[in-house]
Amino acid sequence: MKQVFIAGGSGRVATELIRYLVASGYAVVAGARHPERVVQLTGVSAVKMDLHDGVDQLAQLMHGSLAVYFTAGSRGKDLLQTDAMGAVKTMQAAETAGIKRYVMLSSMYALQPAKWSQYPALANITDYNIAKFFADRYLIDNTQLDYTIIQPATLTEKPATGKVTLGEGDDTTNPIPDVARVLADVLPLKPAYGQVIMMRSGQTPIGQALKQL
Ligand SMILES: NC(=O)c1ccc[n+]([C@@H]2O[C@H](COP(=O)([O-])OP(=O)(O)OC[C@H]3O[C@@H](n4cnc5c(N)ncnc54)[C@H](OP(=O)(O)O)[C@@H]3O)[C@@H](O)[C@H]2O)c1
Repeated sequence: MKQVFIAGGSGRVATELIRYLVASGYAVVAGARHPERVVQLTGVSAVKMDLHDGVDQLAQLMHGSLAVYFTAGSRGKDLLQTDAMGAVKTMQAAETAGIKRYVMLSSMYALQPAKWSQYPALANITDYNIAKFFADRYLIDNTQLDYTIIQPATLTEKPATGKVTLGEGDDTTNPIPDVARVLADVLPLKPAYGQVIMMRSGQTPIGQALKQL
């Protein structure tokens, strides 16, 4: 069975992502500091992983997977070691483990610092955006990975709509299950390789939106 590794496997987005991946026939290895918090489903194994660990330790956990997701984040508490360097180490570990495909959960405008002062929601999280900026830039500039970077707007705990708008715009929220669905569905999509994709709530069914890549 095709296996994927998720760094940050107990988080809100990861939990929904795991459900979609399992439903699509993937086995999932979920790396988490608290493996007992990973959703328990057939086809999911939870392994202990801390992003403070070394690259070789992370690579060992990834062996046998065909892709790596990064969905971890420190909620502002450990931006350098988790959101920035933790992400970079998972990229290095993926390459060490011989894995080519890598899907990053980033954040809207992380790669456009000029935007950070234009939106009140972003003005308060500059340090977070800096961490995401450097992680995304490293992925693009310093790896040979077949990456896709998904940059959603503000996450909400509303139910799935199954619809999105890709690209920037005024609607600045995303239900978590819609973000997870996009993360799952881009995995096998070759046109998504090497792309940075902003997303937010919208009216286009996700499958249709992704066909336009
Ligand atoms: N909130 C938003 O509006 C928003 C918008 C756009 C993008 N995003 C991005 O989406 C990401 C995921 O969101 P979410 O709501 O799913 O976050 P979440 O529920 O807080 O999940 C983050 C996960 O990261 C893990 N983690 C933190 N530090 C770690 C470390 N040192 N080693 C290993 N795992 C660690 C946490 O596990 P523990 O239980 O061990 O702490 C948790 O499982 C955010 O981090 C952010 O980058 C968020």
